[in-house]
Amino acid sequence: MHYDVIVLGAGAAGMMAAIEAGKRGRSVLVVDHADHAGDKIRISGGGRCNFTNINATTERGRDRFLSDNPRFALSALSRYTPDMFIALVRRHGIAFHEKTLGQLFCDGPATQINTMLLGEMRGAGVTLSLKTAIERVSKTETGFELLLSNASVTAESLIVATGGKSIPKMGATSFGYQLASQFGLRLTETRPGLVPLTFETGALEKLKALSGIATDAVVKHGKTAFEEALLFTHRGLSGPAILQISSYWREGDAIAVDLLPHRDAGEMLRAARKETPKVQVQTVIGNVLPKKLAQLLGEELDLPGMIGDFSDKKLALVEAQLKNWSLKPVGSEGYRTAEVTLGGVDTRDLDAKTMAARAVPGLYFIGEVVDVTGWLGGYNFQWAWASGWAAGQVA
Ligand code: FDA
Repeated sequence: MHYDVIVLGAGAAGMMAAIEAGKRGRSVLVVDHADHAGDKIRISGGGRCNFTNINATTERGRDRFLSDNPRFALSALSRYTPDMFIALVRRHGIAFHEKTLGQLFCDGPATQINTMLLGEMRGAGVTLSLKTAIERVSKTETGFELLLSNASVTAESLIVATGGKSIPKMGATSFGYQLASQFGLRLTETRPGLVPLTFETGALEKLKALSGIATDAVVKHGKTAFEEALLFTHRGLSGPAILQISSYWREGDAIAVDLLPHRDAGEMLRAARKETPKVQVQTVIGNVLPKKLAQLLGEELDLPGMIGDFSDKKLALVEAQLKNWSLKPVGSEGYRTAEVTLGGVDTRDLDAKTMAARAVPGLYFIGEVVDVTGWLGGYNFQWAWASGWAAGQVA
């Protein structure tokens, strides 16, 4: 069977590309080994799908994509904007709301987005082949030949949208990277992103006691900082602030945590020394932070005695602990729980406007398999929609 376009992967990017190519009158086959299309959409955003971020194409939003070449993503992102996806969502009568920081979530279940995309695919005449393994891909003179578990097919254009390595349990594979290598495209280093951080046994034992506690914090790595919730878990640290910084963190590095954002801790401690001189430092900290956290910080400081007896030097140590608490993760939870994969198909080998492989006519890479990774908060879906849309205009 021959198609104009074959899309590998029925995720966010693949479905968008298929819709757009189908709307242009191209015959399109989408192949996926999973039982359902859009499995990650279904579980995304805690089941509510944070389907875009209204800041994705603003001046600041542009810095919210990580890549060896962050400028690569700008063309697609500026041509297919959050407004365009919002218009599609509205057309399908899907109710949504802004949760925080420009993040748009469905009011109802995330499956509505899948239903919408599947409906659009049907409308565009796209054929979907699920539970289908891709056994071999080769280049012919006029396009591509694929041996699938259920058929042998050919196509003029091949769009690779098989995503990253995150959550192998859900069917994530390295297939897209292998295919890129097979066709001579370069890869950048891949690693888990938007992932909880883990600690060595000693530190973990202490942190474990705080499991379930969440607090607002600024988490820093070098010049990068995120102010969001920080969550202590029985495995280490999680919560949006940690997930965000994890994409910047490298093994061996420490992170710094400001536990009292927008507060002058020095002033607070000096006032406590004056007004409540007979209390222990833990108690003072416990007035502004969860008690168990205050206890841990107090133990780490190991400064017994009443605050009224503290010298300025001692107070400065407490202040540093509150405003610049240094923690050294040993690793991350890895691809098992990472929301995304950083790195991937090297953007130097792709055309920024169309996502086409520069050296292989008819071959395209879109979505997470490409070395473009967004911040938490709808940026990754916006990249999937935008890159899928871009390829769908030309493939
Ligand atoms: P995606 O991974 O969606 O699709 C790839 C498809 O290829 C899958 O259907 C897979 O089965 C198929 N495939 C892989 N290997 C194959 C093979 N060898 N043969 C055949 N098929 C193969 N982002 C966001 O913006 N907002 C959010 O709310 C969330 N929430 C979220 C929660 C969780 C738990 C995770 C893990 C991730 C998120 N994300 C997110 C990230 C978002 O899900 C991700 O960026 C996009 O799904 C990427 O879309 P792609 O289409 O590129 O890959």
